[in-house]
Amino acid sequence: PEPGWTTRADVVVIGSGIAGLTAALRLREHVEKVLVVTKDVLAAGSTQWAQGGIAAALGEGDTPDQHEVDTLVAGAGACDLDAVRVLVGEGPAAVHELIALGARFDVDAAGLLSLTREGGHLRDRIAHAGGDATGAEIQRALIAAVAAATDIEVVQHALAVDLLLSEESDGPDGAAGVAGVTLHVMGEGERDGIGAVRCRAVVLASGGLGQVFSQTTNPEVATGDGMALALRAGATLRDLEFVQFHPTVMYLGPDSRGQQPLISEAVRGEGAVLVDHDGERIMAGVHELGDLAPRDVVAKAITRRMHETGTPHMWLDARHLGADFWERRFPTILATARSHGVDPVTQPIPVAPACHYASGGVRTDLWGRTDVPGLYATGEVACSGVHGANRLASNSLLEGLVFSRRIATVLPAELRPWAEPAEDVRPAGLVARSVRQDLQEVMTGRVGVLRSAGGLAEAAAVLDGLAGKAADVVDLDAWETTNLLTIAAALTDAAALREETRGSHWREDHPERDDARWAGHFDVRLDPATA
Ligand code: SIN
Repeated sequence: PEPGWTTRADVVVIGSGIAGLTAALRLREHVEKVLVVTKDVLAAGSTQWAQGGIAAALGEGDTPDQHEVDTLVAGAGACDLDAVRVLVGEGPAAVHELIALGARFDVDAAGLLSLTREGGHLRDRIAHAGGDATGAEIQRALIAAVAAATDIEVVQHALAVDLLLSEESDGPDGAAGVAGVTLHVMGEGERDGIGAVRCRAVVLASGGLGQVFSQTTNPEVATGDGMALALRAGATLRDLEFVQFHPTVMYLGPDSRGQQPLISEAVRGEGAVLVDHDGERIMAGVHELGDLAPRDVVAKAITRRMHETGTPHMWLDARHLGADFWERRFPTILATARSHGVDPVTQPIPVAPACHYASGGVRTDLWGRTDVPGLYATGEVACSGVHGANRLASNSLLEGLVFSRRIATVLPAELRPWAEPAEDVRPAGLVARSVRQDLQEVMTGRVGVLRSAGGLAEAAAVLDGLAGKAADVVDLDAWETTNLLTIAAALTDAAALREETRGSHWREDHPERDDARWAGHFDVRLDPATA
């Protein structure tokens, strides 16, 4: 369908978590009109759900260099050193700015930031808020700041469908640049339905892809839309195979689907231990950091023990923390576990790994620039190289903060002239929502924690078959399912190509890390002939 309405903004920010709102708040100081587009309400993305906190070298005796070492070790040889240095070096100032903006972090009796530890960190460097409600507090502070900034326009319930690219090819290698973005707005008065925003730059901050799998910590909105949009516009996706599975997600039974309750690594940071059904410690002798080993190591150890014992979950035992500590330090997790019939004060919590975070995404440089002139990416949707094969705990909120600040530094001086859009790049055929469950199940079964050539080939064939099921209406479900399928197929291809085990990518048929052959990255670009 043709756009039913058109509007203009200098910059469109797609997404409203820590990355999107930080970018919007900083850009408004230098750019006349900033428009924020979000698929649901402002708080519906992943930021709101972050529990453990935000990592930065803020404690006495800690340094960005030590944070750098821990990030590189977790990333299993696939991080970009320059990007990591930016992240850890600019991290402390970025967190202090967030505090100045109004985010209230937990402090000790002396008024100093309370810092905790999570997997892979050799120091206490995780700042938290409301005990275990860090993301909710950051989201609250950012939304309040955006509400006070009356010059930022917000359009909620709007899916960014695709970029409009300029008629003139003015980028490197003849690439067309950003001229606008098409939106599908659901029930927002005059702007209802498909419309177009003409703009001079787009900041993509639309989060991850967790809904590609049947169990995930990610909210319903995490359907890989930004990555699919960027791919269709000619951008490069990198490191898609490195999908992180959080080790301790509450197990709710074999039929539970969609978003599952996260049990923060900070619970282990405060002393909880993983045990099997006989009460044996799972991490004993597996890694020198024991229960606080990097996330991929813990997820693998749990999965192994599940396979050995033929059981669908293990246990996280934190009874010894006691009722007072639980109520003060982890009120959100306590309430959630109790709402599912488990009292962590008196019972171990059933846990299993579930999809948590896309370490890869839209490839950017150190300033958030993608290959498409005028398109920037930040936060989980982006791949600047900071996470490598396995993101270090609590580096994700920090990434959104640091790289959005960077984009706001360079983008105003790089604003492109207004350009006439050529034909848009919307996909020709949309896929029916009814394929979603099959897609998620094959991804979890064959492209999940444990992968093999046979399973990946099977998944690719199933996904290929699902692509033939056309949607008969153009609606949000159809756009999202099409995006899920695009990203699932690209992820499966990348996972099949990487014939080694590295970080969160675990191949049972290639169980070793192989630096001689696989130290590089897989980039995905759409063949222009099929675009
Ligand atoms: C957690 O609290 O365990 C999640 C933190 C993260 O994903 O970095």
